[in-house]
Amino acid sequence: MAHTEKPTALIMIFGATGDLANRKLFPSLYNLFKKGKLDKFAVVGVARRALSNEEFQLKVKESVKENGDTETNADIDEFVSKFYYHSHDVTDSSSYLALGKLSEELDSHYGLNGNRIFYLAMAPEFFGTIAEHLKKDKLTDVSGFKRLVIEKPFGHDLESAKVLNKQIRTAFTEDEIYRIDHYLGKEMVQNIEVIRFANAMFEPLWNNRYISNIQVTSSETLGVEERGRYYEKSGALRDMVQNHMLQMVSLLAMEPPIKLTTDEIRSEKVRVFRALRPIKDGEVNEYFVRGQYDKGIMNEKDVPAYRNEEMVDPESNTETYVAGKLMIDNFRWAGVPFYIRTGKRMKAKSTKIVIQFKDIPMDLYYQPEKTVNPNLLVIHIQPEEGITLHLNAKKSGQGTDATPVKLNYANKGIDGLNTPEAYEKLLFDSLRGDATNFTHWDEVALSWSFVDNISEVWENTKEASFPNYASGSMGPDAADKLLEKDGFFWWPITEIDVENC
Ligand code: BG6
Repeated sequence: MAHTEKPTALIMIFGATGDLANRKLFPSLYNLFKKGKLDKFAVVGVARRALSNEEFQLKVKESVKENGDTETNADIDEFVSKFYYHSHDVTDSSSYLALGKLSEELDSHYGLNGNRIFYLAMAPEFFGTIAEHLKKDKLTDVSGFKRLVIEKPFGHDLESAKVLNKQIRTAFTEDEIYRIDHYLGKEMVQNIEVIRFANAMFEPLWNNRYISNIQVTSSETLGVEERGRYYEKSGALRDMVQNHMLQMVSLLAMEPPIKLTTDEIRSEKVRVFRALRPIKDGEVNEYFVRGQYDKGIMNEKDVPAYRNEEMVDPESNTETYVAGKLMIDNFRWAGVPFYIRTGKRMKAKSTKIVIQFKDIPMDLYYQPEKTVNPNLLVIHIQPEEGITLHLNAKKSGQGTDATPVKLNYANKGIDGLNTPEAYEKLLFDSLRGDATNFTHWDEVALSWSFVDNISEVWENTKEASFPNYASGSMGPDAADKLLEKDGFFWWPITEIDVENC
């Protein structure tokens, strides 16, 4: 698909006084502007509170200074001069009509060709209402393109996601909807396909004949912070597994697409979701483990248990940790477990993928208590970015003993600090009309239907062992047992760090 390299558009940000706009969207837009990637544009910040254009521009400027490029240049004034503010009531048509009038004025003033991006960066309960109003109050009647960029959570389960989808589809076609999963904007998540499909040495081995298991870990050190109200209803399963974790699995497991087009890539990912073995009621505990953090010490400071966090029920049954075993029942992956785990208040902030290859057929270097290690391909998603290949080689000196060696590629080393942030890439993609790294409705629906089976069981059975892992640990013991019973173990995050390679 040909994409306009220097897009022109009016960008409306709903939730412009919120945290996401402040921390991610304004700095990302500024980076695009500074790199000369935007042609003509203007931004309308939309939110409830009353602000003048000048006050809003000042906020944007501060946000760029605090969260963005520290060497902010003089062009920041030119950048913020394109920002306007509209105080808005999401349920009131007259408010939309005023917004429509402002949009038309800006469109002709800046020559924006009637192109509009509607970015919903606010509480999800308003997504549907806003989309319906945009249509009803004619903001989507444009001469150029119109696109809806929508943040997660996309629904709470399959049913609510369907309702929401129906609402937004009244105003936008599937092609015009850009559902954000910010993991898809991460450099090394985007690299999964390139590593797989641009190297002759991996793809022939990328199947159940040579791979014994795959482990995807996304651990966080932060707790629930000030998001208790949202998180109580979500938990780690909905917050991380339904979207980010399953998206990474689909990229690891998909077949090579015929072409690198949005439709081809998405349809291969959808096929993975279709092959995911559903977890039946009675099987949840066999495949999944849940955890909730207890108090602990992190960075030499006492941190509270989840149940003592703000806006959290003191007897909460919400999971802050999930480990699971996924089976992909297709020809390539039959029999290979994909283990996933994610949690808050864990030992390290780290996202990594470990591809463990099968043992060699005969270990010539076996000595009691010592054997060669399996080959591993580790994809470091964050904080460090890179890949490491774990091999065995001769121990130097006399004899033929084998010893582990590591081949390491650290992305930062080459690209320096210039790797753009996920949001910068995704914003640019939405502006130039490339939906590849956004989730299609079919992916969302299939991943909800997978997750719903588990959350229903968990919601209806109180977990007596909660809290079951200390803050600062790697999660509950049951997560280790999940792998032990298959003869595997979690590769320790610290041992496979780039620094230790
Ligand atoms: C978000 C979740 O989608 O992802 C948060 O809502 C989580 O709870 C965050 O902290 C993790 O993202 P990252 O990029 O820091 O790994």
